[in-house]
Amino acid sequence: MNYTVMMPAAGSGQRMGAGYNKLFLELDDKPILIHTLEVFEGDPSCDGIILAIKPDERAKIQSLLERFTIKKVKALVNGGEERQGSVAACIRAHDAGGIVLVHDAARPFIRRSVIAELVEVADGHGAAIAGVRAKDTMKYAQAGVVEGTVDREKLWIIQTPQAFQYDLLRQASDQAQAEDFLGTDESMLVERLGEPVRIVESSYDNVKMTTQEDLVFGEALLKRR
Ligand code: CTP
Ligand code: MG
Repeated sequence: MNYTVMMPAAGSGQRMGAGYNKLFLELDDKPILIHTLEVFEGDPSCDGIILAIKPDERAKIQSLLERFTIKKVKALVNGGEERQGSVAACIRAHDAGGIVLVHDAARPFIRRSVIAELVEVADGHGAAIAGVRAKDTMKYAQAGVVEGTVDREKLWIIQTPQAFQYDLLRQASDQAQAEDFLGTDESMLVERLGEPVRIVESSYDNVKMTTQEDLVFGEALLKRR
């Protein structure tokens, strides 16, 4: 089953504190952005990538795509102020239907096997998202005082990729925009339509490069592979 990737890369990486878009930071002499793109470049089932970028980073990204021979990027669209807007711009730029995968450019360690399962489940059921089980005990609290403990059996830490039948994602995204609803992932937009979203168990190494310590973990993962 083939798919197209919508990849938001238009953030500014505030929490990484590099002073520029963290996706240009290198792991093993290669920008994070390129590591992530290479996963899809090398996947025969990936038909193409729509990348949301910051307008003033267009030239830099185009030259990186050339330098690292990334050929599957079909469109570079201007991202939005929020991640959701960046993904929405990708969605609008795609008109081929089928299965689409939303994947953060900041998650370079996604496994091909998880991608394949997500695509399969989304094709059969409409929506599938990657997640891992919570390892720690989780509590909710008010002003630093515990109010209760959450049943960990039902808790999942959600990642990207998130896979959808295109028409469903398009409808969810358009409706969120019309209603000024801002979610933290695309699944939320589909959930509010009342549509079921299935979880595909992913791995703990599919980390998002967010803060400095994630880079240390990232370097270690690359060494291990
Ligand atoms: N992203 C985007 N458009 C935005 C904000 C984020 O395309 N307006 C992208 C980022 O480039 C990243 C992904 O969404 O690939 C996940 O976002 P996050 O990890 O939060 O990255 P940043 O927003 O860049 O980082 P921070 O929140 O620390 O500023
Ligand atoms: Mg952010």
